[in-house]
Amino acid sequence: MTDVATAPSFPMPRECPMHPPAEYASLRADRPIAPVTMADGQRAWLVTKHEYARTLLADPRVSSNRSHPAFPIVVDSDREALADPDRPFNRTMLTQDPPTHTARRRAVITEFSVRRVQEMRPRIQQIVDECVDAMLADGGPLDLVQALSLPVPSLVICELLGVPYADRGSFQKDTKMVLNRNSTVEERFAASDRLNQYMDELVTAKEAAPGDDLLSRLIIKNRQAVTLDHLDLVGMASLLLLAGHETTANMISLGVVALLERPDELAELRTSPGLLPQAIEEMLRYFSIVDTATSRVALADIEIGGITIREGEALVIAVNAANWDDEVFAEPQRLDIHRSARHHVAFGFGVHQCLGQNLARLELEIVFETLFRRIPGLRLTVPAADLPYKDDAAIYGIHEVPVTW
Ligand code: HEM
Repeated sequence: MTDVATAPSFPMPRECPMHPPAEYASLRADRPIAPVTMADGQRAWLVTKHEYARTLLADPRVSSNRSHPAFPIVVDSDREALADPDRPFNRTMLTQDPPTHTARRRAVITEFSVRRVQEMRPRIQQIVDECVDAMLADGGPLDLVQALSLPVPSLVICELLGVPYADRGSFQKDTKMVLNRNSTVEERFAASDRLNQYMDELVTAKEAAPGDDLLSRLIIKNRQAVTLDHLDLVGMASLLLLAGHETTANMISLGVVALLERPDELAELRTSPGLLPQAIEEMLRYFSIVDTATSRVALADIEIGGITIREGEALVIAVNAANWDDEVFAEPQRLDIHRSARHHVAFGFGVHQCLGQNLARLELEIVFETLFRRIPGLRLTVPAADLPYKDDAAIYGIHEVPVTW
């Protein structure tokens, strides 16, 4: 890596809570693959151009293996723990390359197909209606995160996996801690240990007496052709629980605030609900909440954009930068519900592209349609600029959204 002495620090601050760091735009114009310095002093390449992000995410020479000593770490972490094969997270599809990745993903992929997810529609609608019933019964003002954004995806993923929803207090708290960039390394790993311990007990119980849920089906299928051991199953369960609720919850909160701030677009969506799927793609692009989970390490020399990324060099492929590439999305700072944003990379790209994207889309569609139809007078009780945005978290969002109607 050349002239790294001047490499700016990563992560970079946001000037506007609704926008990615402003520095991304100038970097993309001058140096779309630029050297940066990570929190632990490591040098990495920051990729800000849509074309290069997709090319690299689809390149088999680019690895997701977090136990690689050069894998970029956005916040201070424990490299030894990240390389420990006995930690369930290090065995998940998210952290593996093909062919191990392929086998792990294949074990659950049919559970997230468009058809299977559509079969969940009536139950998701019921869950959303019950949350809105409770909001109306409460009368407000209330925190939308606790009343709707968090309960909907949490209950959906709990029912799908066979996780008791009554246990949400602890797993939601531990998830928050795992993703919090301001907590200490010890706090983050302790929360991750608690999540794993909880899942270990749950998987053990299902191994003894399988029920009718995703984890039980996986356990039974695995008995016929063993591809996953007990720790792999625990890792799978923890990953699906974490990825399945925190992401969509943040998109619900950000999407509601964005639409409340744009009354004309909201009115249009009310009269033309057919526009909603397209508007959701645009919101996914605009917020790109999982911004740096798509980090990687190069396993070979790669020529791209006039530079050579050397074997063993770290890559931060920032999807919130790629999704604001003005050569691909004109006026990216405008949330335009008429835009066709389908080729965004908010769900990643390549073999690791989000497994739960069909489910996330359906939850978002049902939540936005139901909430704005049933509570037409919904409004924020504080200016959107004053909301507590999650600058401190690995997945972007809002901690609390006070609303009334
Ligand atoms: C709006 C909501 C969501 C967003 C923005 C999102 C975003 C992402 C992104 C960017 C990746 C790629 C990570 C990488 O390339 O390393 C990913 C992977 C993944 N997501 Fe999501 N996600 C969402 C919802 C969900 C849901 C509801 C689930 C349900 C279980 C889920 C499960 C997963 C899993 C298992 C992976 C790993 C896939 C693999 O490694 O092959 N996600 N997600």
